[in-house]
Amino acid sequence: MTTNRRVTVIPGDGIGPEVVGATQRALDALGAGITWERCEAGAVSFRRGLATGVPAETLASIRDTRVVLKGPLETPVGYGEKSANVTLRKLFETYANVRPVRELPGVPSPFAGRGIDLVVVRENVEDLYAGIEHQQTPTVAQCLKLISRQGCEKTARVAFELARAEGRRRVTCATKANIMKLTEGLMKRTFEEVAREYPDIQADHVLVDNCAHQLVRAPEQFEVIVTTNMNGDILSDLTSGLIGGLGFAPGANLGRDVAMFEAVHGSAPTIAGQNIANPTAVMLSGAMLLRHLGLLTHASTLEHALAATLEDGIFTRDVTAKGAVGTAEFTDAVIARFGRRAERLRARDHRPLVLPTEAPAPPAALHTPMALVGADVFVRATDMPDALADALVKATEGSPFRLKMISNRGTQVWPSPGALPDLVDHHRCRFVRRDNAATPDDRDVLDLLARVGAARPWMHVEKLHTIDGAPAYTRAQGED
Ligand code: NAI
Repeated sequence: MTTNRRVTVIPGDGIGPEVVGATQRALDALGAGITWERCEAGAVSFRRGLATGVPAETLASIRDTRVVLKGPLETPVGYGEKSANVTLRKLFETYANVRPVRELPGVPSPFAGRGIDLVVVRENVEDLYAGIEHQQTPTVAQCLKLISRQGCEKTARVAFELARAEGRRRVTCATKANIMKLTEGLMKRTFEEVAREYPDIQADHVLVDNCAHQLVRAPEQFEVIVTTNMNGDILSDLTSGLIGGLGFAPGANLGRDVAMFEAVHGSAPTIAGQNIANPTAVMLSGAMLLRHLGLLTHASTLEHALAATLEDGIFTRDVTAKGAVGTAEFTDAVIARFGRRAERLRARDHRPLVLPTEAPAPPAALHTPMALVGADVFVRATDMPDALADALVKATEGSPFRLKMISNRGTQVWPSPGALPDLVDHHRCRFVRRDNAATPDDRDVLDLLARVGAARPWMHVEKLHTIDGAPAYTRAQGED
């Protein structure tokens, strides 16, 4: 079966044009019937002065084709431009990143022979990667970790649907819910709720640090791991390492409207333009793209030819120094093996992945009333906690709020619980409603800010609420 499908192709930076070009060549040779729309993004666009790194024509093409084969895009480190990768993922709300790793025949790794065959499903647009950062004081910076119920639900659902589509029986959720109870905890709790809809799949939770440990001790125990963005970024590079390296790890960014296929690896600038990069990761991403287009047989033909090439001992330089072939020659070898079934590939039966076509229904909690009970005001101050507290208590006399405690980077320093943390110039001052005060409202918070601001400069405020009677905020370390 062939189709005539338009696919946006972004060759990308560094080794991108070589490995993406190799994949296009393989898909064309398969007769997949794809018409490529070549677009740019990344370094070329940044150099042309485009702050987003993604030109409008590229966005228009993706809106139109809804399927993308993407090379790696360089991200300038430090200040300035945002990552063009993250921009693409966020603009099209490709909320789940699917990163499978499978032991491939002949590829050396300390784990060869263990039968590794797992998928990391990573929430792809929220968490610390929302990139909402503020330098709070000259010495303290902050990054907001935003996690939504909807983002967790959609990602968890992809993990369970993927398990069903690929005949897998277990989904493990990996979070740091013990420390970040509200954010990471939201992923854990939502996962557990979604799991009830999939009684045929075993669902369990593991703390993400233990997950990393378990992945190195006994990776074959995992089938699908679902996790938040940053955890997934790190765990999926780890899992790539288990099966021979980044050269073998494919990925897909999936959303309701757009699917974008790309390797886990980056632009590998030091080996770019030398015909030595391994195209396997992008080719396997190409196989995922074929499945997405419904071309299941084409996908399987490509995967078997790739595995047969590896079985024949044909490797690029990242695998072997001796007798390595170039990117182009490796691609020729794969194409020459179309139609051959690899002997040692643990093939999976894939059913098409069923993704929700509608946004999740608004969570029931959307209209739950929130009661204002206080405010955390973050101030810039270099004085000792007792002096700072004296100044703030004085400044807020007559306010419906009283100073309850001050913490420095999350550890209570006033009233002193006996801790001895180093102090930085960034204090969180927690104000709560006085016992005899009327129910406070926003005007009281504004009045509080004016009073605090007269004593010390403030740069950030968080209103404290209860939701359904339960505190919607955490305590400081040492706070009672
Ligand atoms: P990288 O993945 O480019 O390279 C890490 C190591 O793996 C290097 O030793 C590289 O030579 C090797 N490697 C990667 N892919 C390979 C392949 N196909 N064949 C053979 N060897 C390969 O990661 P790095 O150095 O941290 O990032 C380089 C640039 O790529 C940065 O600007 C980064 O922001 C960007 N990047 C982009 C990604 C994307 O577009 N999805 C993902 C990761 C990084």
